[in-house]
Amino acid sequence: MLAQRRILLIIGGGIAAYKSLLLIRILRGAGAAVTPVMTRGAGEFVTPLSVSALAGEKVYDSLFDLTDEAEMGHIQLSRVADLIVVAPATANLMAQAATGQAGDLATTLLLATDTPVLMAPAMNVRMWQHPATQRNLATLRADGVTMVGPDEGDMACGEYGPGRMAEPEAILAAIEARLAKGPLTGRHVIVTSGPTHEPIDPVRYIANRSSGAQGTAIARSLAALGARVSFVTGPAAVPPPEGVEVIRVETAAQMHDAVMAALPAEACIMAAAVADWRVSNAGAQKMKKTGTGLPALEFAENPDILAAVSGLGDGRPRLVVGFAAETEDVTAHATAKRARKGCDWILANDVSDGTGIMGGTENAVTLITADGAEDWPRMGKGEVADRLAQRLAEALG
Ligand code: C5P
Repeated sequence: MLAQRRILLIIGGGIAAYKSLLLIRILRGAGAAVTPVMTRGAGEFVTPLSVSALAGEKVYDSLFDLTDEAEMGHIQLSRVADLIVVAPATANLMAQAATGQAGDLATTLLLATDTPVLMAPAMNVRMWQHPATQRNLATLRADGVTMVGPDEGDMACGEYGPGRMAEPEAILAAIEARLAKGPLTGRHVIVTSGPTHEPIDPVRYIANRSSGAQGTAIARSLAALGARVSFVTGPAAVPPPEGVEVIRVETAAQMHDAVMAALPAEACIMAAAVADWRVSNAGAQKMKKTGTGLPALEFAENPDILAAVSGLGDGRPRLVVGFAAETEDVTAHATAKRARKGCDWILANDVSDGTGIMGGTENAVTLITADGAEDWPRMGKGEVADRLAQRLAEALG
């Protein structure tokens, strides 16, 4: 799948560097050529000998190597690659790349190229969650860098949380998606998916029955057509697709902020079942049975993400697509919703009892555009997704 493709692999100095050895193997198994670059820190975790033996190529690690300069200028290194992959992308590498520093070979290569970049962050959970790292992440994303991971789980440092480098297979899938050629190659599309959880107190929340199946299928279909997909998902029942950038959120407010941070994009598809209200007097502590009566929950309205994105001025995606889950008068309600939200298309479906659509594998939708309503026959959610992705590619031209 990656035959004739050259990956410039920058290995940062983190314990996850050992997984990069496996990544090199599977990249080569998929037919790619790998040019390895190691930072000074990487050499503390894996040896240049292992890296070079697996890559079948020499390791580049110095900005001031006369032989390398004579054979191939270091800047040239990054230009001949189809994709630059940074794995593990340490907090330090991310910070340097976000601020345009060029203190060593790896960062110089990142600064001296317009080749697409994919990063697999790996660091301690607190370093990942630190506002500085999150700022750098936002900057890198805005610069067009695609992220894969980090995963959540046990960490080498003994803590638990997000920060583990994505597994080599997931990085390979992200690389394949980033290099996929199709009608949406070079386009950035944001997809929202899944339910939201609105906390009542630290242990309880209000949710809905959305499984995330349709949004996940749409993200997968868009990636298959070559799109760079930012997949903003609430806590869904189905796992996110491979090869897309997954941004996990819980609440509607977080989803709103994540979508705004993921812009600009050519298109935005809002398949999430966003809660209309949140509990405005959510407890900081678990609410107790007091014997003095029932808790009185108060509600506040959540931001309408679809309407907000549709109403953007300069930064508005060219195509904004919403969903309408209705239980009666589907076309009439969805047509009114399209006008109210200011979006371009609405995919409407009937989720009334007995249709088996909510949480099921099939969907029967009506596409509402400026030209009117178009009924699609009942089909699998994957087929609905393929058809929507195809239409989107045609509309973006
Ligand atoms: O208003 P309603 O929930 O029926 O609209 C459904 C559409 O609006 C979906 O596309 C959903 O993702 C989006 N939506 C949103 N933000 C909200 C509520 C709904 O983006 N707060």
